[in-house]
Formats: sequence, structure tokens, C-alpha cells
Amino acid sequence: MIQLRHLLSASDLDRGTAVEVLDTAATMAATQARQIKKLPPLRGRTVVNLFFEDSTRTRISFETAAKRLSADVINFSPKGSSVSKGESLKDTVLTLGAMGTDAIVVRHAASGAPHRLAHSGWTDAAVVNAGDGTHEHPTQALLDAFTIRRHLAGGGGDLAGLTVAIVGDVLHSRVARSNVSLLTTLGARVTLVAPPTLLPVGVDTWTCAHSYDLDRTIDELRPDALMMLRVQHERMSAAGGGFFPSPAEYQREYGLDAPRLARLGREAIVLHPGPMNRGLEITSAAADGHRSVVVEQVANGVAVRMAVLYLAMTGKETP
Ligand code: NCD
Repeated sequence: MIQLRHLLSASDLDRGTAVEVLDTAATMAATQARQIKKLPPLRGRTVVNLFFEDSTRTRISFETAAKRLSADVINFSPKGSSVSKGESLKDTVLTLGAMGTDAIVVRHAASGAPHRLAHSGWTDAAVVNAGDGTHEHPTQALLDAFTIRRHLAGGGGDLAGLTVAIVGDVLHSRVARSNVSLLTTLGARVTLVAPPTLLPVGVDTWTCAHSYDLDRTIDELRPDALMMLRVQHERMSAAGGGFFPSPAEYQREYGLDAPRLARLGREAIVLHPGPMNRGLEITSAAADGHRSVVVEQVANGVAVRMAVLYLAMTGKETP
């Protein structure tokens, strides 16, 4: 069995390790179909969810995953804590460490915060990145890969031969960054589709192709999976806006609507990490239609996070 010291970035995972995490997640998922879902391996261990940024599904998913493995879970949010009095990340983590923490799941607005935590010497805990700024969100990429594998790769092995299009606000998306890295490691061909204003500088050096044309991508590339990204209004307004002329125009060029849905291949699936802007990047027909695996992604997220916590926390001494 592999052991993960930390999980900071999807590029920490080579192909063999990624497949082993997905296989472990498949074992975990099988246990989640049982009536009694709780397993004993992390009994007596403590996981702290340290979420400096808003989250619904990721935080609840990590909490559920840790509890299903019998760990104690402490949910920390800066509101109502001494962070609002100006306490630093360092002092917050030293405080948590003094109380005996085995794993820290961290979400932070600053890209690189989990990396800083893991390599600071402030804590011995395993650090799992639950999203840092616009940088990385490795467990989201793992749950997306897991979902794609279940549907399209016969449930085992890697994603060799599959084509995935990632569509929308790539610029602000840590989900896209982690997915490009992980999906290509697993052998998929990835194409990013976005207006030029929503593609990052340097995208030419990424391990994927890119296009400004969603219709052509659908018709010529015949993607097996279409991953729609949320238009991140909050990051756009913080940057002064002006990324596209109007929501209606964005929807027309890059939204997944019924006509585009109808032109996808017979087996193609539609993913979205949530939260969705219904009517903007995805219509309700696409979000709720038979190709949509959005709800399944959420369920798979628990199994994947159980696998990551398990692989990062077993075989270590409890303090
Ligand atoms: C994503 C995130 O927070 O990075 N959501 C998630 O984790 N499910 C994507 C987003 O916010 O658009």
C-alpha cells in the first residue's frame, strides 16, 4: 500500500500512485453502499478542516469522509475564531498542533498556503489541499477522474484513449489546473475551451490543447467527457471585471445548452464541480439530464476523500 505524506497538488501523483488512490477509492465506495457506512481505521485520529474560504460540498465531503473512517473531526472557520483578531496561519496551526492533530485539510484564498503549511515545520500533520486560490484542488481532480473512469473506462486502470474538454472560466479555476495535470497523467487527452480572456498566460506550456470554439470542439473532437466550469464572478469582480461582454453572450458561446447537448456522442458525460450558475455555463436541461454526473461527483467525492485521508493517515504514530 502506498502512503501519501501530504496531498498538495495533482502533480504530486504519478500514474501508479494516482491509479492506486482511485482503486482505494473504489474499495471505499463499495463500503458506502452498505447500510452501515462507518469503518474503523482512523479511530483515535483527529482531522482538522481548516477552511479560510467558503465551501459547501468540499468541507462537508471531507467531514463525512473522516467520520466514515471513525476519525474525530474539528471544523475550523476563521469567522468566530482568533483569525478575525489577526492571528496568523502559523499561530493557528501551532495551536491546532498543540491539541494533537493528525491531518489538516486546508482551503485558503492564497495560492500556496497548503504548501507553506506542509513545509513550514509548524506541524507534523498530513496536509491535504482542499483548494488554494486559483492554484490547485487535487481531491476534486481525483473525484472527477474517478467519475470519468467509472463511466467510460470500464471501472479500472487509467484514462488512456479518452478525450476530455474542460470548458469555461479556466483562468480562475483551480479545478481546471488540477484536472489538466491529473487527467493527462492518467493518459486522457485534454482540451481547454474558453474565450481568450479566460485562459491563463502560459497555457501553451500546459500538457493540453486549447480552443476558443466550443461548437467546433464538440463536433470535431467528439469529447467523451465535457467538464463545465463555474464562471467565478467573485474573482472576476475582484479583478475589475470585463472578462466577457455580457452573460447572454457568454451563454451563447460557451454555455452547455440543449442543442449542444444533443450533438455530444452517445456515451458522453457532463461534469461540473459545483456550485453551478444554472442558465449561464450550464442550462438546467444539461445539469439535470441523463448525461449529467454532477450528483454522482458529489457522492464519489466522499469515497475519494476517504481514500486520501486513509492513505495519508495510516501507518503513522498518533501524537
Ligand atoms: C470549486 C472550488 O471551490 O474550487 N468547487 C468545489 O470545490 N466543488 C469550483 C468553483 O468554486 O467553481
